[in-house]
Amino acid sequence: MPRTVPEVHTDLVLEPRDVHFDWTGLPLHWIPDEPFATHTINVLHLLLPEGERWFVEVFKEALPLVRDEQLREEVLGFVGQEAIHAEAHQQVLDHLLAQGLDPRPYVRQIAWLFQRVLGPKPRLTARRRRENVIERVAFVAAIEHFTAFLGNWALNSPGLDRAGADPTMLDLLRWHGAEEVEHRSVAFDLLVHLDPGYLRRVRGMLLGGPLLVHLWVRGVRFLLAADPSLDGRVQPSWKAAWHVARRGMLPDPVQSLRSGIRYLKPGYHPTQEGSSAQALSYLAGSPAARAAAGAH
Ligand SMILES: [Fe+2]
Ligand SMILES: [Fe+2]
Repeated sequence: MPRTVPEVHTDLVLEPRDVHFDWTGLPLHWIPDEPFATHTINVLHLLLPEGERWFVEVFKEALPLVRDEQLREEVLGFVGQEAIHAEAHQQVLDHLLAQGLDPRPYVRQIAWLFQRVLGPKPRLTARRRRENVIERVAFVAAIEHFTAFLGNWALNSPGLDRAGADPTMLDLLRWHGAEEVEHRSVAFDLLVHLDPGYLRRVRGMLLGGPLLVHLWVRGVRFLLAADPSLDGRVQPSWKAAWHVARRGMLPDPVQSLRSGIRYLKPGYHPTQEGSSAQALSYLAGSPAARAAAGAH
């Protein structure tokens, strides 16, 4: 099946960077005195290890369906990058646990969602299995739109620096964000390759967008309640989110919603969002990415 979008990324070579972060000195509130902003961003660590491992499984299932050598290479590069992202965020979860914030009850629910509800269905016929894989690729493509949006935000978030956010956590967020911007087209191009239909794309977003918001809100509530230093004193609210976003520590909720709507435009392509040049420039200077490059 021919690809129906312009070959904007024919020279894209995705390199998994085997980064490592030292969390020993990370304070529980790594944005000083900002537990709400800290835990709203910490939801990433709750969702991504299971979520990105699931992306890897879906893409491995989709690989035999790919009939384009360049796209195949991109899918393999994407899988390599996402596998490292999942492990990097897993290490933050382990650090939270060591600090007395037990993330496991929430993570168990996320694992159930990705492994059971959205996992492979072994008893399907070959035709139905193909349908099921493409449906899940559409879901990944919708989520990848948001990871690129968030990555682009992380690369352009001086508010976090102004607030004195921990530099190692900022490097994790921006290294990951830069790789999300770098590979932002892969899931979408894979979806178009397997099914160029508009309906499937829309369905992926209509399911994925609200689910992501729901999981995020639940995640913030969970972390604020589980944080042993807060004793339930900080209550999450949309008003608090607006306030923190205005000070540049979170993405603007309206911009985030608008971004989700842009995905539904018939002429949408991920390259319209974010800048590959900026992402690569960050990766060239990222302490973790530089250390990973030096280790090879
Ligand atoms: Fe990722
Ligand atoms: Fe990604």
